[in-house]
Amino acid sequence: MFARRYVADRSLATAVFLALKRRKPLLLEGEPGVGKTEVAKVLADLLETRLIRLQCYEGIDISTAVYEWNYTRQMLYIRLMEASGTTRQEELKEIFGPDFLIKRPLLQAIDPANAKAPVLLIDELDRSDEEFEAYLLELLSDFQITIPEIGTIAAKEPPIVVITSNRTREIHDALRRRCLYYWIDYPTLEKEYSIVLTRMPEAPERLAKQVCAFVRELRALDLFKAPGVAETLDWIASLLALNQLELLEGTVRDTLGALLKYQDDVLKVGGSNNLGKLIEKARSVSS
Ligand SMILES: Nc1ncnc2c1ncn2[C@@H]1O[C@H](COP(=O)(O)OP(=O)(O)OP(=O)(O)O)[C@@H](O)[C@H]1O
Ligand SMILES: [Mg+2]
Repeated sequence: MFARRYVADRSLATAVFLALKRRKPLLLEGEPGVGKTEVAKVLADLLETRLIRLQCYEGIDISTAVYEWNYTRQMLYIRLMEASGTTRQEELKEIFGPDFLIKRPLLQAIDPANAKAPVLLIDELDRSDEEFEAYLLELLSDFQITIPEIGTIAAKEPPIVVITSNRTREIHDALRRRCLYYWIDYPTLEKEYSIVLTRMPEAPERLAKQVCAFVRELRALDLFKAPGVAETLDWIASLLALNQLELLEGTVRDTLGALLKYQDDVLKVGGSNNLGKLIEKARSVSS
């Protein structure tokens, strides 16, 4: 466990340790909601450094990920200069200087002005396109960025990089080879229970155990979208809001929306003889 906030297997803790020690990017893959993004957040907290997050999406490009010129400011500056009658070449050059640059996450992460290496979270890289991945590959090898009008900006200390992917498309081998790789699986019953205890110490023990056992059974069913740890925590929060001390069929049925996000799954699990059996089993496993 690190920072008393994240429950990690020994193998994940080792991967994180090695990523830090060898300054290699850490590539985390796994089903949704198993705690990939959280690793970066907790790591930044633990190292008392800044977390810089780049959320990837289809069509993400240099201007949103690296830098952009502040056009509005440039225009204003030109107008001001025109008004004061000083549109000399040197002054015009200024508008392509650092004052007019908007630093996006990747540039922020390698800014030589950073007093301490930040944690750079490149979240859900699988959502970006291959072109962007290729750009990233270059950046991750030398931690420098060239801006034609300014020159090359290089990190004093390379950032600690955590990349996550949900595997909606495969990340290329070239990038994988640069990284340390770790697959975060659904937690075991014991691990999930520890996560719940860590995150929601106010939850009654019996309820927490039954919830973990129930969620585990759901994951064994053939669902369209099995619940992750995020859903487990969210479900417990709902049950606590309803002052529940254990799983009761009626309440479980009414709160399934915290766990399952597709109507087909809700119908499958909520079927009258199905739900009773699942709860019965969860109670017996956890007692
Ligand atoms: N091992 C863990 N210890 C503590 N909290 C955890 C752990 N795993 C997951 N969580 C909690 O579960 C929630 C979901 O985690 P997170 O957002 O990191 O998942 P993810 O894998 O990034 O999901 P997605 O693929 O949907 O982005 C967070 O609130 C996090 O606190
Ligand atoms: Mg995430």
